[in-house]
Amino acid sequence: MLKERIQKALNEQIQAEFYSGYLYLAMSAWSQARNYEGFAHWMRMQAQEELQHAMKFFDYVHATGGQALVRAIPQPDTEWADPVAMFQAALDHERHMTQNINNLAGLAIKENDFATNITLQWFISEQVEEEAAVEAILGKLAMMGGNGPGLFMLDRELAARPAPTPPAAA
Ligand code: FEO
Repeated sequence: MLKERIQKALNEQIQAEFYSGYLYLAMSAWSQARNYEGFAHWMRMQAQEELQHAMKFFDYVHATGGQALVRAIPQPDTEWADPVAMFQAALDHERHMTQNINNLAGLAIKENDFATNITLQWFISEQVEEEAAVEAILGKLAMMGGNGPGLFMLDRELAARPAPTPPAAA
């Protein structure tokens, strides 16, 4: 049975994961409207992945006798100056999400909630991958320094991102 404090924190994280999905959907829409079709696809796949994260927490809350909440999702930003600003916003957001997950893991340890701690280990590894993926894209954008053909090639490269595989149930 989940402790009340843990359940509350997990429900806040479910909302944060849905917000992430919404943010990346907004980034996908911004990209699509400017003919960056590869960036739009990459962001759409990222949005799908975030929904999977939300559902992994959602299912975990129920697997441990709690009730997941479907809370209102705040309005994300919808405009960015250029692709660099958009991917930088994505990285800033992932760093914030990493902090959330770390805080949750700290709480689980403090409350001796070993099951929640094990579930969070998957998210801790996932956050390392998420930050690294966006950092790699930003690195390439920095390398090309606004060069049009480079941007075109990166857009094409990101169009190849496969659909995310749902994580195993908690
Ligand atoms: Fe689910 Fe990108 O954090």
